Amino acid sequence: MRQMLIAGNWKMNGLRTDLDWLDTLYQNLPEPPECDIVLCPPFTLLKDAAERTQASYVGIGAQDCSADPEGAHTGDISAHMVRDAGADYVILGHSERRADHAETSVLIKAKVSAALKEGLKVILCVGETLNEREAGMAEDVVRAQLLGSLPSDADTSSLIVAYEPVWAIGTGKTASADDANTMHHHIRSIWPGEDGDKLLILYGGSVKPENARELLSCEHIDGALVGGASLDAETFAAIILSVE
Ligand code: PGA
Repeated sequence: MRQMLIAGNWKMNGLRTDLDWLDTLYQNLPEPPECDIVLCPPFTLLKDAAERTQASYVGIGAQDCSADPEGAHTGDISAHMVRDAGADYVILGHSERRADHAETSVLIKAKVSAALKEGLKVILCVGETLNEREAGMAEDVVRAQLLGSLPSDADTSSLIVAYEPVWAIGTGKTASADDANTMHHHIRSIWPGEDGDKLLILYGGSVKPENARELLSCEHIDGALVGGASLDAETFAAIILSVE
């Protein structure tokens, strides 16, 4: 009943010429594909990517947005600008934003609120560090991040959670399918609404064609947020083809 979603997060990679990636993706997938697909390129490519995917099944998302609607915030991009560029989604609370830009759950909550007001679908990232996992605190950390970042008007039609253990991002280490599924179940159980069974929960952290099938076949794993392996269209297509 939950529609699977595979999202690619290009992070700070990609120039306009790299959007030919889309042609390779189309060549490698059946139409329509088995699941929803979203590409999150850097801000500079949003408009071109949105134009090139207008008539296709690929959705476009940004990787961040400001909590403020407009004004004197040099270098920031508002949710309205993201929408105006043609995107439908935005990733918020990624651990690289939390670490590189000291983003707190309070700030992320304000960003989520701004994005939802603009009609964007939010992919809200949560996940523990290795120290936190080894200290047995993973579930508490994820609970605090999730509940601390959720505005009261968030609902399962516009908010998607991505569980991304920090120690698995870009490291080649993946959470075992069992551990990931257990955390996803935990996230579903703490969702504050009545409709936790409708909540889409993606797994992220070194997802690749070799581990995608096992992860994506778990009961509570509804898709993936893919970083490094999304940069190559054929590899990304192979992950999408793992959805059954
Ligand atoms: P990775 O990144 O697939 O390169 O580990 C995932 C992410 O950070 O979203």
